[in-house]
Amino acid sequence: MSKNIVVAIDGYSSCGKSTLAKALAKKLHFIYIDSGAMYRAVTLYFLRNDIDLKDESQITTALQAIHLNFHSRDYETHIMLNDEEVSDEIRQMHVADKVSAVAAIHAVRVEMVKQQQRMAKSKNIVMDGRDIGTVVFPDAQLKLFMTADPLVRAQRRFKELTAKNPGLSLEDVFDNLAHRDYQDTTRAESPLTRAHDAIILDNTDLTPEEQLTFAVKRLEPFLSA
Ligand code: CDP
Ligand code: CDP
Repeated sequence: MSKNIVVAIDGYSSCGKSTLAKALAKKLHFIYIDSGAMYRAVTLYFLRNDIDLKDESQITTALQAIHLNFHSRDYETHIMLNDEEVSDEIRQMHVADKVSAVAAIHAVRVEMVKQQQRMAKSKNIVMDGRDIGTVVFPDAQLKLFMTADPLVRAQRRFKELTAKNPGLSLEDVFDNLAHRDYQDTTRAESPLTRAHDAIILDNTDLTPEEQLTFAVKRLEPFLSA
């Protein structure tokens, strides 16, 4: 193989990015990296240690104390925060409520981007997030920008979360997604935006299988090169 292939998937909250990224990685035997899980794990650490988001020195010290690792099993995200598996806890609403504020901090982004670029060295990867095609891998061979109707997205995420969170309402989930999308698209540092060369994929009416077919077709020229 001449050059490693990078697939960058960006888009709004809960619009199927990780479902597509995992399926692509599995089909093509690429490495899947869930960049959102990294921001969520940092947020969990900040919450547990009561880090003041306005205090730069607390943030710097905290970032130095955080060691993130992915353990790859069945293309699912297994993220370790200082050797503790936190894959389930980072999906909870207390983390979802704070993650966009943490992800807006310059020092946090610099550290995450550095780690993400290192992970992809000489490997075929699929990475999903908010700034993958614009900042982390501006030269990615395939960039997808995913979107879907906001209510459909909230209904899908609600279905995932409700079993473990009986008190949660669809409205809570809708509000969280809307709030994060607002914060992610309006922040000063690497806001969520479509890279000029990213292909838009609206999956409101697509099944996970159909969105996979869409992406594989766009990747075919690079696979046979
Ligand atoms: O899965 P979901 O769409 O709910 O979010 P996620 O991918 O787990 O990302 C959680 C949050 O992390 C996002 O709302 C962003 O604030 C932040 N994030 C980011 O800023 N940059 C990335 N590359 C990935 C996530
Ligand atoms: O990674 P992101 O937050 O963008 O979304 P996701 O976690 O991949 O997808 C959110 C939910 O939507 C999951 O339960 C997926 O199974 C579901 N989904 C769907 O029903 N149809 C699609 N075409 C894509 C995702």
